[in-house]
Amino acid sequence: MKTIFSGIQPSGTITLGNYLGAMKQFLDLQHEYNCYFCIVDQHAITVPQDRLELRKNIRSLAAFYLAIGLDPERITLFIQSEVPAHAQAAWMLQCVAYIGELERMTQFKDKSTGRDAVTAGLLTYPPLMAADILLYGTDLVPVGDDQKQHLELTRNLAERFNNKYNDIFTIPEISIPKIGARIMSLQNPNKKMSKSDPNSKGYISMLDTPKQIEKKMKSAVTDSSGIVKYDKENKPGISNLLSIYSILDKTPIAELEKKYEGKGYGEFKADIAQIVIKTIEPIQEKYNKLMESSELDNILDKGAEKANIAANKMLRKMENAMGLGRKTKKIK
Ligand code: AQP
Repeated sequence: MKTIFSGIQPSGTITLGNYLGAMKQFLDLQHEYNCYFCIVDQHAITVPQDRLELRKNIRSLAAFYLAIGLDPERITLFIQSEVPAHAQAAWMLQCVAYIGELERMTQFKDKSTGRDAVTAGLLTYPPLMAADILLYGTDLVPVGDDQKQHLELTRNLAERFNNKYNDIFTIPEISIPKIGARIMSLQNPNKKMSKSDPNSKGYISMLDTPKQIEKKMKSAVTDSSGIVKYDKENKPGISNLLSIYSILDKTPIAELEKKYEGKGYGEFKADIAQIVIKTIEPIQEKYNKLMESSELDNILDKGAEKANIAANKMLRKMENAMGLGRKTKKIK
């Protein structure tokens, strides 16, 4: 069975963007792959976090993974910082990566430009991400479009390591959904929807109430033409809403354009709000139950145990390949 790895940062409550771009894909994949799903809390601290908020967000994200319908018997769900091999392997990969290639990453540029105290962690985020993926012999990484560049770097680092030290890493493939790969902000349709956006009107949080969703959809930035038509270049706002509607309602965009011909944005926005509410409500119900149960912590304990075993095996191979420590016993 082939292996999948995917990580999400507990840097806020997940958004509709995270759900459509990454998580929704996991549901089908869990039946065909050996799946590792990780709450990447060490990635989250590359920018300042409130410690109590972070703790809350870690547990909350774990509950969301299960609430969307992932089966804990099939998948391995765990927290990155509970598997120390990630940080250890990341250090080795930092010693394989070049500063120039890390500085070229768009996410680094976006998150560091104009800021005073830019942490070294923000620059070395991609080798940690590469470690996450490579430790499990991952074949496929399902992500949104924004992570494509980091994935390409992961592949380069793996190939460089294999050529320079020993051929131990699987070179992972990337899987990006055909639609929904980049859900845009509701307030600025030229910027991606992000859970850490300071303007909460820009995103739909998976914990938003029906009233909040209705309000956010109503105030979503569109254009003055009032014509429901997909045109990413000239009408990015309504095109973004059409993509969301189309995925959630499983209706082709062309059919939606016909349905709303001559109707204006008001009716369209009211309908899309109801579709989002219908999607999110059952997830929230399951989420609330999980947050109150001890089941969640048991699943995370088991997940950490399984992940530690797999990750430590690869870590030993990496150390042997690079000549770290004393020669270890044969890796089982
Ligand atoms: N707007 C989006 N559209 C589609 N997919 C998205 N993803 C994120 N935003 C969108 C996908 O969600 C997964 C988890 O992302 P992450 O939390 O690890 O980091 P991120 O990509 O930086 O997500 P955010 O929400 O923008 O977080 P912050 O605000 O903390 O930086 C990834 O697969 C990502 O592609």
